[in-house]
Amino acid sequence: MCRHLIAALLTWASSFGTVRCNPSRSGIRFGQSHDAVRRESSQAGPVSNITRDFEVASPVQIPSRGVCATQQLMVHSFGSSYGTPFVGAYTPPSCDFNSVIISFTATSLGVQYDRLAMMYLSDIEVWRTSTAEPTRAGIIWTYTKDMSAYLSLWKKPQTIIFELDNIVNNVYTGPFNTTLTATFFTVDKPPPKADLILPISSRQGAVGKQSVFNIPADNATVVYTIPDHVTRATVSISANGQINEEFWYTNVFTSQVDTFKDAVGTLVGGGPFREIQLLIDGHLAGVVWPFPVIFTGGVAPGIWRPIVNIQAFDLAESEIDITPFLPVLLDGKPHSFTISVLQLADSNGSGTPTLTEVESFWLATGKIFLFYGNEKTPRPASHALPKITGADPTISISSSITRFPNGTNSSLTYTTTASRALTISSPYGSWKQTLSYSNTGELTSRGFVQTNTQSTHGTQSAVNTRSPAFNQDLAFDYPITVTTAYVINPKGGIRIDASLSTGLSFRDSGRPDISPFSLVSGPASLNTLQQGTGHYSSVANASYSFGTTEQTFSKTSHGSMYRRDVKAVNGTVVQDSEGLAPGGGRPVLDPVKGSFGGPRGFIGRGPGSPWKGL
Ligand SMILES: *[C@@H]1O[C@H](CO)[C@@H](O)[C@H](O)[C@H]1NC(C)=O
Ligand SMILES: *[C@@H]1O[C@H](CO)[C@@H](O)[C@H](O)[C@H]1NC(C)=O
Ligand SMILES: *[C@@H]1O[C@H](CO)[C@@H](O)[C@H](O)[C@H]1NC(C)=O
Ligand SMILES: *[C@@H]1O[C@H](CO)[C@@H](O)[C@H](O)[C@H]1NC(C)=O
Ligand SMILES: *[C@@H]1O[C@H](CO)[C@@H](O)[C@H](O)[C@H]1NC(C)=O
Ligand SMILES: *[C@@H]1O[C@H](CO)[C@@H](O)[C@H](O)[C@H]1NC(C)=O
Ligand SMILES: *[C@@H]1O[C@H](CO)[C@@H](O)[C@H](O)[C@H]1NC(C)=O
Ligand SMILES: *[C@@H]1O[C@H](CO)[C@@H](O)[C@H](O)[C@H]1NC(C)=O
Repeated sequence: MCRHLIAALLTWASSFGTVRCNPSRSGIRFGQSHDAVRRESSQAGPVSNITRDFEVASPVQIPSRGVCATQQLMVHSFGSSYGTPFVGAYTPPSCDFNSVIISFTATSLGVQYDRLAMMYLSDIEVWRTSTAEPTRAGIIWTYTKDMSAYLSLWKKPQTIIFELDNIVNNVYTGPFNTTLTATFFTVDKPPPKADLILPISSRQGAVGKQSVFNIPADNATVVYTIPDHVTRATVSISANGQINEEFWYTNVFTSQVDTFKDAVGTLVGGGPFREIQLLIDGHLAGVVWPFPVIFTGGVAPGIWRPIVNIQAFDLAESEIDITPFLPVLLDGKPHSFTISVLQLADSNGSGTPTLTEVESFWLATGKIFLFYGNEKTPRPASHALPKITGADPTISISSSITRFPNGTNSSLTYTTTASRALTISSPYGSWKQTLSYSNTGELTSRGFVQTNTQSTHGTQSAVNTRSPAFNQDLAFDYPITVTTAYVINPKGGIRIDASLSTGLSFRDSGRPDISPFSLVSGPASLNTLQQGTGHYSSVANASYSFGTTEQTFSKTSHGSMYRRDVKAVNGTVVQDSEGLAPGGGRPVLDPVKGSFGGPRGFIGRGPGSPWKGL
């Protein structure tokens, strides 16, 4: 959130000396933890117990039977680790296995920002996570993840590359001490797995580096010749914005970045809408309208102790079924796969803007999952391109500025709506995406108070004519409302009052294999909402941060529902109901395929109403 404050901080920089805008960490913030620690350390009484941070998620259980091996993949302290990932050699266990679960534990003590981390098997990113922010008493968290979808990778030797860019110096004192363990086991009816997984990445594993693309600095393109007995192909994409793009959903239109220049300085532009595109040989193959994950220092850090944001420990990947492209991909020739990230190109804050390449800092990778048929699978009769309709989205923006009698701008309201209906079809199948989006932003008090209310709804549907068991319908919805008010005391010090409501719902008809989006095989549905208020306050050399977070969560998968309602106040869990609700052995899903009749129908709530804060 530092970027909201940069201008103000420039004006009042002398009041607080811990401003840090560090380009490669997960976002940029001022040094709240630093001050918070000094405050704590000056308090009398015993040091409180270690904080156990957690993301509310369906627990992944390491099985008690069928385990064939356990390997410690990493024991590493990430101190001053910029550009120097942990690199280790992985050799598959000699026993037979068809499933893999990893368990990651991290602990830290002292002063530190939140950091983004990525785990790779050689050139392929298999997990993107972020860290909690430590306290003086110390923090610890564990995240357990089913990695069985990558079985074909685990069956071969790999270089484990774990990048967690951290800085330790006399101000930022907390290293992240981590362990990563893999458990290899056998289940009776394993879900099918991709036969071949190809990276859409910068492929630096052989030199012991991470393989993320930095868009737009990198040309995020790879070229592959696809083996000819493939019958089904999907791509998953992992992408998130950093620095000026971390809070992209609060960015104003580029033509209006100087609306409050004399009060808060230049705002961040590009508008609040982003589209990630997958292009095959330059043709649109599918899009992702990103989920706005908030890292543990984001908006107001007090909101994220100890409950972190949805996906903060496991940033979900979005999927695009590229099976309709198989006729052209199976011509035995090389084909290019490109990830691009786009923002709004507006000229005057109204009208119908076009999309243009994002200005800065999206970290993206993709994976191509290829499923083989048998040797008798007929080859495509024609290598024609699929039919692509709806390649362009419909986008509309408007804005208004109010002024004080003396002509100074006092407030800015800006609205963006976008929709698209993309269909890609060929004899191998079809891929359909319908998406709708809206974002209303309001900056008042000359830019010191900002609220954005955003909603993203989507449905996507894959039809695979050669493997109909993999037909899939997914509907999702992720509303977010964030309000942040900054008050700067000219005598030194700052106060932030923040309030947010953020949710994620989806309903997935499911596929036999494990989805990197739903994290499970088969039908799944999720409904979760976080509501929080956070406050930060600093005066010279002393600052504190506190807040309240409430989360409701229910996920149905493998025929049962996991439900958890939890509330934390000032860093302590005060209410927590956890348990398996009776699922009657069947998923709580409507037997609908193809059309969910509008995601609002099942989410049952909209942005703006849940909280009445501020
Ligand atoms: C840690 O928590 C336990 C149980 O609540 C308490 O007895 C103990 O005093 C605490 N330790 C510190 C250092 O606060
Ligand atoms: C982390 O590891 C370092 C180096 O081994 C050690 O000095 C430090 O005490 C550890 N910190 C925690 C919180 O375990
Ligand atoms: C990106 O890389 C691809 C594949 O190497 C190449 O064909 C394309 O021209 C490059 N694009 C740019 C803008 O450099
Ligand atoms: C008021 O806002 C407009 C539109 O962003 C901008 O061009 C203008 O410079 C602003 N006026 C002042 C005094 O900052
Ligand atoms: C703003 O630009 C759009 C095109 O981007 C144009 O249609 C519209 O007329 C412009 N409005 C004004 C007030 O200049
Ligand atoms: C204009 O009026 C507003 C509201 O009274 C005030 O905050 C601002 O400083 C004034 N601007 C100038 C340039 O006098
Ligand atoms: C803040 O800390 C600095 C350096 O430690 C010190 O020089 C200064 O006097 C402190 N200010 C206050 C108000 O305590
Ligand atoms: C949380 O901390 C703030 C600031 O110290 C305090 O005002 C508030 O009463 C605390 N809330 C609870 C429930 O303890």
